[in-house]
Amino acid sequence: MNTQQKRVGELLVKRNVFLTGPAGTGKTYTVKEIEKEFKQNKKQVYITATTGIASRNYENGMTLHSFAGLPTTNTDIKIILNKLSPIVLDRLKSVDLLIIDEVSMLKGETLEIVHLLLQHAKSNQDLFGGVRVLLAGDFFQLPPIYKNEQMKLLFEHPFWKSAQFVTVQLTENYRQQNDNEFQQCLTDIREGDISRKTLNYLESRAQEEDTLKKNYLRVFFTNKETEGYNFRRIQEINHPPVYLTSQIKTFNKYELPPDWPFQIPAYVTLKIGARVMISKNLPDKDLVNGHIVKIREISSDNKIIVVSFQKRIIELSHVTEIIFDNKQQKLAECVGFPLILAYGLTVHRVQGLTLKHVVIYINSLQFTPHLFYVALSRVTEGKNLFLITKKLFLKQFINEIRIIKSVYHFYTNNENLIDMNRDKKLDADLLTIV
Ligand SMILES: Nc1ncnc2c1ncn2[C@@H]1O[C@H](COP(=O)(O)OP(=O)(O)OP(=O)(O)O)[C@@H](O)[C@H]1O
Ligand SMILES: [Mg+2]
Repeated sequence: MNTQQKRVGELLVKRNVFLTGPAGTGKTYTVKEIEKEFKQNKKQVYITATTGIASRNYENGMTLHSFAGLPTTNTDIKIILNKLSPIVLDRLKSVDLLIIDEVSMLKGETLEIVHLLLQHAKSNQDLFGGVRVLLAGDFFQLPPIYKNEQMKLLFEHPFWKSAQFVTVQLTENYRQQNDNEFQQCLTDIREGDISRKTLNYLESRAQEEDTLKKNYLRVFFTNKETEGYNFRRIQEINHPPVYLTSQIKTFNKYELPPDWPFQIPAYVTLKIGARVMISKNLPDKDLVNGHIVKIREISSDNKIIVVSFQKRIIELSHVTEIIFDNKQQKLAECVGFPLILAYGLTVHRVQGLTLKHVVIYINSLQFTPHLFYVALSRVTEGKNLFLITKKLFLKQFINEIRIIKSVYHFYTNNENLIDMNRDKKLDADLLTIV
């Protein structure tokens, strides 16, 4: 760890820490090191992330929702407390250090609930029930998903101020350390200040699809484009297609929301040889949301699918996913295979990953500077980044990228930010607040 990264461990002795910095500066790396340190000191550490894929960066990672037993829908604390399962309660009671990665996607409401749950489990009225909390993430990356409300970033929620995190900002980029020109380009995009040179650089990465290797991952800004691309790719495989449809049941007049609420897809077309992603944790198969596997066999009754993952051959059968209401009443049930085609993925699915090659499709007006920055910053060297776009479109988009003011305000007015150039005595003052 470098000096900035080591500082996180020192500060955690007394304070809750928000570890931030641009993509590739080693937030996730630092989290892993801190985990080791705390475990050596016999502390109980839980590592969570806001998405399944991001939690997969860690050997023992899980989503924050599964750690705290949070329902996807209701957020009333009384209801959550009422149906707290003994497993979750034991976990909450035992934790010494709670780590949450990719917090740009974390809602303030959710963090506050975790704080209340920990207070309850630990019978301790201190912040987070006295549990040490380490948040990691970069607010220039993807924001939380608010379906029917105005989007709020974590630091815009009232709970953020009372939680008093001390901020450590990493600055040394490791992911793109061998490519300074690309690094500069990413910094420009992150800060919304695009130079002529960066625009030229991005234009130089534009490519025609048919010149690119098929096994490079394609990344899209919308679900629709991702589905279209995956569909085209599966059509190219010379095997008969198998159409799988999940069985849905609803209860008590429940109506499914317009956004598909299950991790199991409604339908999927598979062929032998297809590249697919596991879309739901399957603990008994040692597979998690985000693992990429290959289809080897599909039984004639479509009930068993054999996949290969690394050197393992694994048999999959139907799994069931259930949505409950506040009183644990079943509202809906989906039975099917948690498999989605994975030639192309949305940006949301690649946040937090380091990738060798990426082909990014930029032809939808729905994309935002956040999506653009997250997608581009996955790859280690600019020469392995390929943009499928029209030059005119790229120029138009770049001209529209503006500084995301609220994020800028946060980073430039954060009194709890540890300034690495300042002498340590001042930091000592910060340490004494708690
Ligand atoms: N101190 C370090 N020494 C060596 N390698 C490092 C160091 N810190 C980070 N790295 C490497 O740099 C790469 C990027 O780090 P990491 O994924 O932790 O970045 P991040 O800040 O979490 O990025 P993102 O915002 O995209 O999640 C990884 O391959 C990691 O192993
Ligand atoms: Mg990370």
